[in-house]
Amino acid sequence: NWSMDDFIDLQIAHIRKTVGNKKVLLGLSGGVDSSVVGVLLHKAIGNQLTSIFVDHGLLRKNEASQVMNSLKGKFGLNIVEVNAADRFLSKLKGVSDPEKKRKIIGNEFIQVFNDEAKKLNGIDFLAQGTLYTDVVESGTDTAQTIKSHHNVGGLPKDMHFQLIEPLRTLFKDEARELGEKLGMPADLVWRQPFPGPGLGIRVLGEITPEKLEIVRDSDYILRDEIKKAGLDRDIWQYFTVLPGFRSVGVMGDGRTYDYTVGIRAVTSIDGMTADFAHIPYNVLAKVSTRIVNEVKHVNRIVYDVTSKPPSTVEWE
Ligand code: XMP
Repeated sequence: NWSMDDFIDLQIAHIRKTVGNKKVLLGLSGGVDSSVVGVLLHKAIGNQLTSIFVDHGLLRKNEASQVMNSLKGKFGLNIVEVNAADRFLSKLKGVSDPEKKRKIIGNEFIQVFNDEAKKLNGIDFLAQGTLYTDVVESGTDTAQTIKSHHNVGGLPKDMHFQLIEPLRTLFKDEARELGEKLGMPADLVWRQPFPGPGLGIRVLGEITPEKLEIVRDSDYILRDEIKKAGLDRDIWQYFTVLPGFRSVGVMGDGRTYDYTVGIRAVTSIDGMTADFAHIPYNVLAKVSTRIVNEVKHVNRIVYDVTSKPPSTVEWE
């Protein structure tokens, strides 16, 4: 019958004993797991921890600054922030196949991370936010890879680190509880899952700066309204997608020919199966009006009412 307080004390003692006076590297993604690991390690070993945060230009609106303000500003983590948006976007130019996009983003991510890691000297340990479910899933060779999920912060190939995985025995909800116990703000601890390739797989087909902006701005409005409606903890994931086709609309006296934005929102326990979320019509109406009014080049909003299976959560 253990409590989270005991867990924290035990882990801190264990981390200190393992690390001694050596140095630890952490790849921060901005997600719950790596953020909680960062705060826990910082509490245990302070500035012996260096974190790398790669901004691949496919993050949500204000995401990078939120992560930096909170983890660097409030918690005092030593974070190397790498703005690699141009590098990723130029590699993705002209590529429209979803799996190719994933591979490019995954490979580029590891390269950027490795380049930064090499600049740091004398690192012995690599920390990761692996959860119990990750341990179990990667242990089953029967699991089919429907989409290749890339592991953020993949291990640098020519570097030899020992792994530190303090969340290895925890489920997601326990990792969240741990974060709360460590004093982390609710908007960090209760983040919805966000895929490694980010908005890159929510702009369907080829990614352009203009399309990215439409997804980023419409997603921001959806999240704002879901939060205002008090639904943010009930819905597993909620985001917008840009299918990339245009259709006819009317604005004032004129005909428009602009993009359609899709709203995707699902309830789920683990992402393996999911139901489409029943967002009240009045909330959907508000979101729809705001996106069309506030985001340029959008004249139609559709709501995805399929569950998983047969659909997947993401559209790519
Ligand atoms: P799907 O779309 O396969 O998504 O039903 C299930 C869960 O996995 C997330 N997802 C990804 N996560 N890299 C990731 O790190 C990926 O390439 C990727 N693709 C999907 C998705 O957001 C959902 O939570």
